[in-house]
Amino acid sequence: MPADLLDLNRIPRHIACVMDGNGRWAQARGLPRTEGHRAGEHSLFDVVDACLEIGVEWLTVYAFSTENWRRPRDEVRFLINFNEEILLRRRDELNERGVRIRFVGRRDWRVPKRLIRRMDEASELTEKNRKLTFTIAFNYGGRAEIVDAVRRIAASGTAPEKITESTIARNLYDPQMPDPDLVIRTSGEYRISNFLLWELAYSELVFTDTPWPEFQRREFFAAIREFQDRDRRFGGVDGGG
Ligand code: FPP
Repeated sequence: MPADLLDLNRIPRHIACVMDGNGRWAQARGLPRTEGHRAGEHSLFDVVDACLEIGVEWLTVYAFSTENWRRPRDEVRFLINFNEEILLRRRDELNERGVRIRFVGRRDWRVPKRLIRRMDEASELTEKNRKLTFTIAFNYGGRAEIVDAVRRIAASGTAPEKITESTIARNLYDPQMPDPDLVIRTSGEYRISNFLLWELAYSELVFTDTPWPEFQRREFFAAIREFQDRDRRFGGVDGGG
């Protein structure tokens, strides 16, 4: 679907993607699962291009979950190295195009120091950019994020009756991140899998059977079209507008 079929006045401000199906895509072709992740890079940057083209301000992708450590050692090692490699290879181009790179997730002992350094370098290099904020969820879990927020609030000594929803929101990994308007999950799984649990309370969810390596801008625009055809009421009723 071409971009000109979209209502450019109603482009979602924040889109989040669960890039699922890389492994199955590769296995169906007799390739190692890691080749699926490699192919997924192409889709990811096609989606980044599409966001820049139509003016999406925030894009968040699930690159590695707190549960992904349970995968075979070689795949975990591949994903860590691949994330680092992508950051090194793409950061200048993203910077030139006005993309601000950010990360959400737990920085625990399992995340190699070198990768943390690369993340910090990419964030610092691009921190002044405003065209698109591209957030990479790495060693991210939605429940872990809420636990970490609660720990910080408890450590600050805030009185329980003073804790509100906005206290929690202010203590999430990136308090500036607006809630996603649209969450897209590829590859025929109809689950949230611990992604942005707090933030997606009112997000529209679009699921597609296409595996991530085949998910490119055409399908991305189709998901936005589906979003635009829905009626978001945030728990209220139609305003008669
Ligand atoms: C899910 O497919 C995908 C992942 C666990 C990782 C995807 C990562 C990338 C495309 C690289 C991203 C890099 C940066 C820097 C953002 P899966 O392996 O769960 O597929 P399956 O469900 O078929 O097994």
